[in-house]
Amino acid sequence: MKGSDFGNDFLWGVAIAAQQNEGAYNIDGRGLSIWDVFARKQGKIKNGDKPSHACDFYHRYKDDILLAKALGFKVFRFSISWTRILPEGTGRVNKAGIAFYHKVIDECLELGMIPFVTLYHWDLPYELEKEGGWTSHLMLKWFSRFVTVCAHEYGDKVKNWIVLNEPMGFTTLGYMIGKHAPGRLGIDNFLPAVHNAAMAQAEGGRIIRTEVKDAYIGTCFSCSEIMPYSDKEADVKAANRMDILLNRLFIEPSLGLGYPHEEGFNLTDRIHLHNKAWKYTERMKFDFDFIGIQNYFALTVKHNPIIPYIQASEVSAIKRKVPHTAFGWEINADSFYKMVKRFSAYEGVKDVIITEGGAFFKDHLVNGVVNDAERIQYFQDYLEALLRAKGEGVKVKGYFAWTLMDNFEWAEGFKVRFGLVHVDFKTQLRTIKNSGYWFRKLMNS
Ligand code: NOJ
Repeated sequence: MKGSDFGNDFLWGVAIAAQQNEGAYNIDGRGLSIWDVFARKQGKIKNGDKPSHACDFYHRYKDDILLAKALGFKVFRFSISWTRILPEGTGRVNKAGIAFYHKVIDECLELGMIPFVTLYHWDLPYELEKEGGWTSHLMLKWFSRFVTVCAHEYGDKVKNWIVLNEPMGFTTLGYMIGKHAPGRLGIDNFLPAVHNAAMAQAEGGRIIRTEVKDAYIGTCFSCSEIMPYSDKEADVKAANRMDILLNRLFIEPSLGLGYPHEEGFNLTDRIHLHNKAWKYTERMKFDFDFIGIQNYFALTVKHNPIIPYIQASEVSAIKRKVPHTAFGWEINADSFYKMVKRFSAYEGVKDVIITEGGAFFKDHLVNGVVNDAERIQYFQDYLEALLRAKGEGVKVKGYFAWTLMDNFEWAEGFKVRFGLVHVDFKTQLRTIKNSGYWFRKLMNS
């Protein structure tokens, strides 16, 4: 496999996110996000880690963007911290926050890199969470204001926009099972959060379309192939329920198909009843120029009546003794290929970008070298699978590696490392891992 096999206009990118990288949590007027507050609660984040300083991208952005450039990436994907722009989530605009992203964007442009801006990568302003956060019907209004401010400020320079990062991820983890910020639990939080996110996804797209000339607009979906543990009917049905939840819940409304519905699956009934979905089908739809696909694992599930609604649970890759990352996530490039084919086959999907792809393996920094051979193999296999899909006609426009450097991995803290560049969080020293060098060689070939 050579880089040129993907075509000369292929967008090789690298992605980061504000909360995971910036640090500087209380500098230049930034307000607190739900993650700043969540991390202060006992037992929520592994080892009591906090995102307060992270990789200090806020002060080191010049060097870090230069590093991405030196590795050979054309695209720099980053997110805008809502609380830097609007510290209270709405109302007053913070000039210093606005200025910071101008500097980041200018740096990219000066280096000839294409900025891809994510509007929401999970760092909701805490002030809005106090008012209900994603469960509040006011969310649409708050989000629209944030998007409008960003579009006005940066729309002349930034043409590539991503509205939401993995809405399934932040609604399920943050509002259903409470593992992520803001740590809310239960169906009564989940249902409105889903609906407000599905609405915000489309509304954000419409705002960018109106405000930014020549914009290229997308939104990012997580996805996983779901396989039944056995061919027993109960397991097959359990896999189908999981598939609806993890794979269909957000892409289908965005395409004008409304929420997925399955006879006998009470969660989908609840979604429909709660959100009177038929009323909103048109408003949840937006004609995205591309969809972002983020596939981190395949899942095998079996029927489990104890689990509310979904009545399914995972049979882990470790237990099944299949290849997995240090997170226990199943490595399965063929299943990635299938998900790319499946998502791109939906009517109405235009371009596809793999807006994140990467893996956590236990890295060892020895004499200034991180020989992360497993990560290299992972990228090799996944990119070959992508090339296969591309060869079969899928309009794959780019691949963005997750992530430039080790960062704050949400509830897992700093020990779970996904970077192409190793970060020593005490000294902030960056060391390019072998996977970073491998990427550079590939993209140049
Ligand atoms: C997807 C999320 O967008 C990103 O923030 C996270 O770090 C990766 N998954 C890895 O878990």
